[in-house]
Amino acid sequence: MRIDILTLFPEMCRVALSTGVVGRAIEVGLVEAVVSDLRHFSGDRHGTVDDAPYGGGAGMILQAPVVVQAVESVRRPGAPVILLSPAGRPFRQEIAEELSGHDQLVLVCGRYKGFDERIRELVVSDEISLGDFVLSGGELAALAVTDAVVRRIPGTLGSMDSADSDSFSHGRAGLLDAAWYTRPPEYRGLGVPEVLLSGDHAAIERWREQSSLARTKARRPDLLDGDKDRPGGRR
Ligand SMILES: C[S@@+](CC[C@H](N)C(=O)[O-])C[C@H]1O[C@@H](n2cnc3c(N)ncnc32)[C@H](O)[C@@H]1O
Repeated sequence: MRIDILTLFPEMCRVALSTGVVGRAIEVGLVEAVVSDLRHFSGDRHGTVDDAPYGGGAGMILQAPVVVQAVESVRRPGAPVILLSPAGRPFRQEIAEELSGHDQLVLVCGRYKGFDERIRELVVSDEISLGDFVLSGGELAALAVTDAVVRRIPGTLGSMDSADSDSFSHGRAGLLDAAWYTRPPEYRGLGVPEVLLSGDHAAIERWREQSSLARTKARRPDLLDGDKDRPGGRR
C-alpha cells in the first residue's frame, strides 16, 4: 500500500513514520509512505498557500489550487482522497479495516481556519475526524489514521503485536480488550487472578472474555447494545 500525506509540516510526519510498527512496515516494503509539502504547489515564489476568507473573519484559508494540484500530482485512479477534518466521519476501527484494503490512500492535512470548500467538491472522496475536538492541524490525525490502517495490513505485525485480541477487533467481538498482567506475580500487595497462572488455556480464554465484557459494560455500554446505527454497535 502507498500512503500519501499532504501537509505544511512534512518533518512532523516523517519522524513519526520512521518508528514502530509503521516504520517497520515501510522498512520491509509492505508500505510506501510519501510525505509531500503543500508549499511546493504554491502558485508564487513566496510559497503562499493560504489567503483571507471571502466575507471576512479571523483565520486563513488553504487555497483550492494549491491543495487540488497537490492531490492530482499523487493520486492514482480510484484511490480515496481523505480530508482530515472535525467535520468528517468519526474515525473507528471499522474504517481503518476498510481503508487497509486500498492500494493507495491520500491524506490531506489542514491548518489555520481550514480548507476552501471547493477542495471538497473537486478532489475529496472522504472526510475523517479524530474526534469531537479541534486540533491545530491534520497531521496528528493523518498519523493516527496511518498507524491504525497499517496495523491491519497482513504481515505488518510481528507475533509480539496481537491485533486479534485488541479492543474493537473481531477476536474481541467488537468489545474492549481484557485486563492483562505480567511479572511479578505480586506487586505492592496486588496479585494476579489465579486462573491466569493455572495453565488452563480454555479457562484463561473464558476469563478474558468475561474481563472484556465487564470492562465494556462499565466503560462503553454503547458497544454492547442499543445504538444500531453506530458502526461497531452490536446487533
Ligand atoms: C484549527 S483546525 C480548523 C478547524 C475548522 N475551522 C473547524 O472548526 O472545523 C485546522 C486543521 O486541523 C485539522 N483538524 C482539527 N481538528 C481535527 C479533528 N478533530 N480531526 C481531524 N482533523 C482535525 C483539520 O485538517 C483542520 O483543517
